Amino acid sequence: MRIYAAKDYKDMSRKAANLISAQVIMKPDAVLGLATGSTPVGAYEQLREWHDKGDLDFSAIRSVNLDEYKGLSGEHDQSYRYFMNHNLFDHVNIKKENTNVPSGLAQDAEAECRRYDGVIRELGGIDLQLLGIGGNGHIGFNEPCDVFEKGTHVVTLTEETRRSNARFFSSIDEVPTHALTMGIGGIMSAKKVLLLASGEAKAQALYDSCFGPVTPGVPASVLQLHNDVVIIADEAALAMIRQKTGWEGEVYDN
Ligand code: PGA
Repeated sequence: MRIYAAKDYKDMSRKAANLISAQVIMKPDAVLGLATGSTPVGAYEQLREWHDKGDLDFSAIRSVNLDEYKGLSGEHDQSYRYFMNHNLFDHVNIKKENTNVPSGLAQDAEAECRRYDGVIRELGGIDLQLLGIGGNGHIGFNEPCDVFEKGTHVVTLTEETRRSNARFFSSIDEVPTHALTMGIGGIMSAKKVLLLASGEAKAQALYDSCFGPVTPGVPASVLQLHNDVVIIADEAALAMIRQKTGWEGEVYDN
């Protein structure tokens, strides 16, 4: 994995948007694996700006999102479908029918997971997968556990994740208890992975993911086994890596 240091959130977002743009320009019908949460918002904003200037064309781009809350419809303002529409899809010329987010309302959630894996397969796999990282090392909603789950599956959200996401809901009781998430196998099958991390709350998880043992107890650590991972992290998120490795530069090849 290659780690790029960013000064702050803005710098991280701009660097990330540059890499995503490069993918869109080099392969106009690329399959982008997209992520939600606070982390990628700035990158999406930058992409919108470049699209508005006429520098980016999403008309042939396909997308698959990582996850969705179980029980929320796409119209719910905390659903990840709503997030994607609001932060990116409604503002660029991507065709909505080319965008995929698991359905949180599917009666049979297991069947929806299998359908979603079929969608990813039919698209021919993911060219670039964008990821955030949880304070507990989760990627998508793959929470720390005993095994790496391969395919899209239903997860029980940890209390830590629910507490952390409660900031977007009026109370923690409203945060769904379950979600559908792309599995570790799906994420690892992406040709390229771009993980973003911002803020000191991510420093420990980022250090463990890059330098600790590969273990499902820290789901992002599996990325050490992928041969094309780029991490862009701001200084706050890099604090523990800097401290423990003595690295002072801008780029670190691990
Ligand atoms: P955040 O979440 O971007 O809102 O910090 C990241 C994640 O939990 O994957």
